[in-house]
Amino acid sequence: MISSSPSRPSVFPTASIASLHARETALYQQLHPRSAALAAQCGHWFTGSPLHWMQDWPLPFPLAIASAQGARLTDVDGRPYADFCLGDTAAMFGHSPPALGEALARQAAQGLSAMLPAAATAEVGALLAERFGLAQWQIATTASDANRFLLRWARAATGREVLLVFDGCYHGAVDDTQVALIDGQTQPGAGLIGQVNKVTRTTRVVEFNDLDALAAALAPGDVAAVLCEPALTNCGMVLPDAGFHDALRALTRQYGTLLLIDETHTLSTGPRGYTGAYGLEPDGMVIGKAIAGGVPCAVYGVTSELAGRMHAAWRAAGPGRTGIGTTLSGSLLQITALHATLGSLMGDEHYAVMLNRTLHYAERLGMVLERHDLPFGLSLLGARSELQFTDRPPRTAREAAAAFDAPLEALLQLYLLNRGVVLTPFHNMALMCPATPLDHIEALVDGIDACLTELHETR
Ligand SMILES: Cc1ncc(COP(=O)(O)O)c(C=O)c1O
Repeated sequence: MISSSPSRPSVFPTASIASLHARETALYQQLHPRSAALAAQCGHWFTGSPLHWMQDWPLPFPLAIASAQGARLTDVDGRPYADFCLGDTAAMFGHSPPALGEALARQAAQGLSAMLPAAATAEVGALLAERFGLAQWQIATTASDANRFLLRWARAATGREVLLVFDGCYHGAVDDTQVALIDGQTQPGAGLIGQVNKVTRTTRVVEFNDLDALAAALAPGDVAAVLCEPALTNCGMVLPDAGFHDALRALTRQYGTLLLIDETHTLSTGPRGYTGAYGLEPDGMVIGKAIAGGVPCAVYGVTSELAGRMHAAWRAAGPGRTGIGTTLSGSLLQITALHATLGSLMGDEHYAVMLNRTLHYAERLGMVLERHDLPFGLSLLGARSELQFTDRPPRTAREAAAAFDAPLEALLQLYLLNRGVVLTPFHNMALMCPATPLDHIEALVDGIDACLTELHETR
C-alpha cells in the first residue's frame, strides 16, 4: 500500500524512463507467452485476477507462477526468479520450507478443520507466550481479522470508542484504520469504497515520530488504543526516532490508552519481532502472514492484565455473538503451520542468515549507488530493506511519499523481472529468507546497476 501523494520529479528525464519502460514492456511480452495466454483466459475473474492487487504489479499482465521453493519462483514459461518479494512477507522463511511443507502434507491427509483443538494446540499457545512475552493468545485467519478483533476487544475493555493510528499506516482491510492526515485533519483514506460508517468520528491520525501531536491526540482521554507498526513499512519505510517508542509507551500509559503493536511485517527484525529486539512493552500484539509460513492464519496476544479486562467486558456484555472469530480460525491446518513455523523455522540460526544477507545486500548496493552518485538510500529492518529515492531517511509518511518516484520504481521492477529478479511491488522492498543465496543478491544488485547505467547513458 502506498500513499496517494504525487511523487516528486525523477532524477532521470521522464522521456528516458518512458522509452526504457516501453522497451522492457515489449521484452516482458516476448519472454512470457504462457503467462500472457493465461491472463487472456481470466475473463471470469473480476478485474482479471482472483485478487485485484495482482493487477497492480507494474507489468503488462501478471506473471503466472508454476512453483515456489525456498527463495526461488518459477513461472509457467519455465523461467526462474530470485524472489525478494516472498509473497509480500508471507514466505519470509522461504517458500514451502521442508519442515513446513512436510508437516502440512501429513496434516492434509488427516483433516484440515474440525472447529476443535488439535493435539499440538496447547503447545502452540505456550510457544507464542514464551517467544513474544504475552500471556494470552487467539487465532484469526488473516492479519486484517486479527487487527479488527483486537480493536474490538480494546474498545470493549476500555469502554472507549476512539482509535489512534499513524499517517501512512496499513493494518490490512480494517476500515477504522483507513484514514489519512490531510491539512492536519483526519480524513477517510482515498479509495475506501462502499464504506458508509464515518470512520473519522472514531479514528484519529497523527504523523509518525510526532510526539507533540501524539500527546495532544491522547490528551482528551478518550482513545481506547494506539494501533501501530513499530516502524512504518507500507508507505515506504519509516523508522522510529530514538526515544519514540519509550515516549509512546509513557504517553499511552499516562492517558489510559492501550498500546497495540502490529508485527506482521516487522517480524523481519529478529526472532521475537521488533518488540523483542527493542524491549517494547505493548498491551497487545498482532502477527500475521509469515507466522504460519503463508497458510492463512494470524495470531493476536495480550497481557494477563488486558485479558482480565477483556473477560470482564465480555461478562458484562452478557450472552450473544461477540462478532469476533471466524469458522476456520484455530483449525488443524493452522495449528500445524504455526507449530512448524514457531518450532522449526524461526530459530536464531535462520535469522542470523537472513540478517547477514541483508547486510551483504546493503554493502553491495551502497557501492553501486555511490558509484552512480545518486541521492538514494537503503532503509533496513532486520531481513527487510527498502531502496528509497532519497538519501535522507524519511521520518514521516509524508516525507516517504515525497521521495517516491513512481515511473522509476515501475521501470526498475519490470527491468529486474525481465532479468530474473522479483522485487516487491508498490515499494522497493527486498526481503531475505534463510534460503536466499548470495548469487540472488548479486543478480539483484547487478540488475539495479544495469538499469541505472542505462538511464545515465540517456541523460
Ligand atoms: C502491517 C500489516 N498488518 C496487517 C496486514 C494485513 O495482512 P492480511 O492482508 O494478510 O490480512 C498487512 C498487509 O500487508 C500489513 O502490512
